[in-house]
Amino acid sequence: MADKEISLNRGLQGVYLDRTNTTFIDGKEGVLEYSGYNIHDLAENSNFEETSYLLMYGELPNQKQLDEFDASLKNARVLPQQAYDVIDIVKDSHPMDVLRTTISTLSSFDEDRDDFSEDAIIRKGIRLTSQVPIIVMAHNRMRKGLDPIESSKTLPHAANFLYMLEGEEPSEDTAKLMDTDFVVHADHGCNASAFTTRVVTGTNADFYGSITAGIAALSGPSHGGAAEGVMELAKDVGTPENAAAHVKNLLANRERVMGFGHRVYKAADPRAKHLKDGVKKLSEEKGETAWYEILLAVQEAMTPYARRGIHANVDFFAGAVYYLIGIPQDLFVPIFAVGRIPGWTIQILEQMRHNILIRPLLQYTGERSKEYIPITKRD
Ligand code: SDX
Repeated sequence: MADKEISLNRGLQGVYLDRTNTTFIDGKEGVLEYSGYNIHDLAENSNFEETSYLLMYGELPNQKQLDEFDASLKNARVLPQQAYDVIDIVKDSHPMDVLRTTISTLSSFDEDRDDFSEDAIIRKGIRLTSQVPIIVMAHNRMRKGLDPIESSKTLPHAANFLYMLEGEEPSEDTAKLMDTDFVVHADHGCNASAFTTRVVTGTNADFYGSITAGIAALSGPSHGGAAEGVMELAKDVGTPENAAAHVKNLLANRERVMGFGHRVYKAADPRAKHLKDGVKKLSEEKGETAWYEILLAVQEAMTPYARRGIHANVDFFAGAVYYLIGIPQDLFVPIFAVGRIPGWTIQILEQMRHNILIRPLLQYTGERSKEYIPITKRD
């Protein structure tokens, strides 16, 4: 087809793949809603359990529904022994690789594996929402030669995640901040990892295959991998006074400032403020305000880029939250996955409801109809 007839959208920028009634994003105004509820209301008033229910079922639960959903999540806080065996085999790998490998293994031990009904998909989503935190924290212990901390059966999701770090219950403020982090990471429309889960679901592959592929997509620094990079940036900057020169140097070398920019948001990412407030509070509580001050100085140095739609995204302050809580830096990206399981679950469900193979085109620009020359006659 002649060039003029093809609208080529590299990276599928601005291309609408399908319809959804789950996550609404207005990139121009910086608005994010899950099933019609504004992220500011959810971050301030809801919690991860309730938000996960909202994403999976499309409406806020009543108390009975929430209690039953929460009980399902707590009952699912268990891993088959074979999962621990796999973690042990690959324990020297990066936590995202361990997570991807272990989730893939779980499909072999899920009695619902070949059940593609909505109820079964939600059961798998609930199971993984509770198992992913265990995988991340069990690996963190096992790679140090320590036994995993057994999951609490009573603590809320975020508090249980932090409890499995070293067997200590987090303070209420720290648990609330972790919970808020999970709420704001829970879904985000057709981002790279959600698109990946949809592509795999589009071939009628199984739930675990879709999630495993989503984890692989998330691990890249252009997507979920930025939180780790933000802390590296903060360490490289060293002091607030160095921030402007450091950022100027990065930009002069056409390097990316981790935690900034977004394919869709050209106004401020509405999620960032909730983590920024948390970092301020936590760093003052811990008397470790240096990281917060460095990040503020980097954000100040990036102000001129706001005019070009480049603002701090959800990952910019997330890294400092995890660092201040005492979570190892290479667990920062797996934490993103911990929060995103409910989102991937609803993305898979929506794709399944009106399933279609996702198969875009590539515009061919090579030579055509070349003569085949036998190898004996080639130069
Ligand atoms: C998330 O999609 C989602 O929804 C993702 C997410 C989710 O919840 O799933 O919201 C999660 O937001 C994570 C994003 C984490 N990644 C980073 O923080 C890595 C740093 N950011 C960038 O690499 C970049 O901003 C992207 C990849 C996030 C978005 O890039 P785009 O939309 O492809 O834009 P682009 O690369 O074409 O950049 C456009 C311009 C370029 O300048 P020019 O070449 O036109 O002169 O903006 C510049 C870029 O150089 N730019 C940056 C920048 N981001 C964009 N310049 C410096 N630092 C940056 N971070």
